[in-house]
Amino acid sequence: MLTVLNHPLITHKLTQMRKKETGTKDFKQNLDEIAGLMAYEVCRDLPVRKITIETPVASCTSTELAKEIVLIPILRAGLGLVNGINDLIPTAKVGFIGLYRDEETLEPHEYFAKFPSTMPDAVNLVLDPMLATGGSAVAAIEMIKKRGAKSIKLVCLVGAPEGVKAVETAHPDVDIYLAALDDHLNEKGYIVPGLGDAGDRIFGTK
Ligand code: PRP
Ligand code: URA
Repeated sequence: MLTVLNHPLITHKLTQMRKKETGTKDFKQNLDEIAGLMAYEVCRDLPVRKITIETPVASCTSTELAKEIVLIPILRAGLGLVNGINDLIPTAKVGFIGLYRDEETLEPHEYFAKFPSTMPDAVNLVLDPMLATGGSAVAAIEMIKKRGAKSIKLVCLVGAPEGVKAVETAHPDVDIYLAALDDHLNEKGYIVPGLGDAGDRIFGTK
């Protein structure tokens, strides 16, 4: 299922990120803040369990999270979404997938993987600001399914219809969350209007 988080605060911050004159510092800060706002909505249906606790005043029955959360950023750009979500879920574990997209073929290439052992029973949030052709997200989800992950959500900032379709076709069981669904991909596989190369803008590499 695709959820596009149309919220004035999220869209305002994303607009700042889209502007070509926005520098690394403001780009990262807005990404951090959007990540936190998105986490709130992405976590809306997390499983909870009832527990009975003692407050200083009385005993009561309340709920707490029933499953561990694992954040899995796709390197590099996915790292930009980790802090904002981790601030809200400080008990989350973090795994890493290193993938880069070949600029000619647009095919993803794996160069790193490190996961917590708890992934099979956890709710796994795969993080990447950009969902373009969907090749990287589809490959990343395959990698974590091979390690036994069953509950998986894909959290991206900007998506293209082509990428959404690719993930929905390959992994119909994975919920997709976007801050914006853009128009199309250009001939170089960039999202239009998009925000350019997310990794380069986060890390100042261009
Ligand atoms: C970007 C982006 C995604 C991927 C999206 O990463 O962060 O991972 O491209 O494209 P796709 O949907 O067509 O696969 P990139 O390969 O540029 O690496 P980087 O994060 O290290 O810059
Ligand atoms: N990766 C990016 O960083 N931006 C795009 O528009 C497409 C892929």
